[in-house]
Amino acid sequence: MSNARLEGKVALISGAASGIGEETARLFVQHGAFVVIADVQDDLGNQVAESIGLDKVSYRHCDVRDEQQVEEAVSFTVEKYGKLDILLSNAGILGPLTGILELDIDTFDNIMATNVRGMAAMVKHAARTMVAKKTRGSIICTASVASCLGGTGPHGYTASKHAIVGLVRGVCSELGAHGIRVNCVSPYGLGTPLACKAFNWEPSEVEASSYSAGNLKGIVLKASHIAESVLFLASDESAYISGQNLAVDGGFTVVKHVVSPLTN
Ligand SMILES: NC(=O)c1ccc[n+]([C@@H]2O[C@H](COP(=O)([O-])OP(=O)(O)OC[C@H]3O[C@@H](n4cnc5c(N)ncnc54)[C@H](O)[C@@H]3O)[C@@H](O)[C@H]2O)c1
Repeated sequence: MSNARLEGKVALISGAASGIGEETARLFVQHGAFVVIADVQDDLGNQVAESIGLDKVSYRHCDVRDEQQVEEAVSFTVEKYGKLDILLSNAGILGPLTGILELDIDTFDNIMATNVRGMAAMVKHAARTMVAKKTRGSIICTASVASCLGGTGPHGYTASKHAIVGLVRGVCSELGAHGIRVNCVSPYGLGTPLACKAFNWEPSEVEASSYSAGNLKGIVLKASHIAESVLFLASDESAYISGQNLAVDGGFTVVKHVVSPLTN
C-alpha cells in the first residue's frame, strides 16, 4: 500500500520559491500531489520547480498584493491540473525591526498588503474555485507565534499575523457549509531567508538564537517540521480539524519564559 497522503491532489503554495513554502512543495510532491509554486522570485521559483520535476510542479509568477495576479495563479492551477484541493497561503514578509516610535506607516501598509490582503485574496480565489467545483478542500495560512504573542516580531508583523487568525476563523465559519477546512500553521523562529535577512545572520545563527530562547530542547526547528505539520492539515488525517491555529513552536506560546524552579 502506498504511503502517499496526497495522491492525485492539487496544491497551490504562495511564497514557495524559498523556505517553508519550498520545503512544503517538495514534501507534497513526495506524497503524490501536483503543486503550483507562486512567488515573486522568478529565477528561484523556476529553479525549485525544475529541481523537483516539471512533470509534477509548475512555477507561476504571482505578487499576492495584486488580486488579479492571485486570481490568475488560481486559474492557472485549475487549467493545468483540473482542480484545486489545497491552498497553502504562505507568502509573507517581516518588515524592518523598528519600534512603534519610529514606525513608518507606508512600510506598515506594505506588510499588511502582503501578509493580510494577500492572504485574503488567495483564500478568496481558492475558495471560489473549491466551492464552484464542490471540492472538499483544505486551506492553510502561514501565521506565526507572533499571531498570539506580542514582542516576538516587529509591530506590523505581529498585527498582520494576528489578523490572519481572524481571517481564518471567519472564513472557517463560512466555508464549513461547503466541506472546506481552513486552518493556520504558526511556526516559531527558524533559519529561512526571511529571518536571516532581517538580522543579517546565517541560518545557523538564527537557529542557535531560536534554540536558546525556545522551550523544547534537544531539537532545532527546521522548515521540514513546518512542512510536516502543513501536510497533516492538508491531508485526510486532519479530516475534522478546521478553524485552528496550529503552533509549531515546541510549547513556546504556552509557557512563561522565566527560569523555572523545576528545571534548576
Ligand atoms: N522564518 C521564520 O522564523 C518564520 C516564523 C514564523 C512564521 N513565518 C512565516 O512563514 C512564511 C514563509 O516564510 P519563510 O520563513 O519561509 O521565509 P522565506 O523568505 O524563505 O519565504 C517567503 C517567500 O515569500 C515570498 N514573497 C514575499 N512577498 C511576496 C509577495 N508579495 N508575493 C508573493 N510572494 C512573496 C518570497 O519571495 C519568499 O520566497 C511567512 O508568512 C512568514 O511570516 C516564518
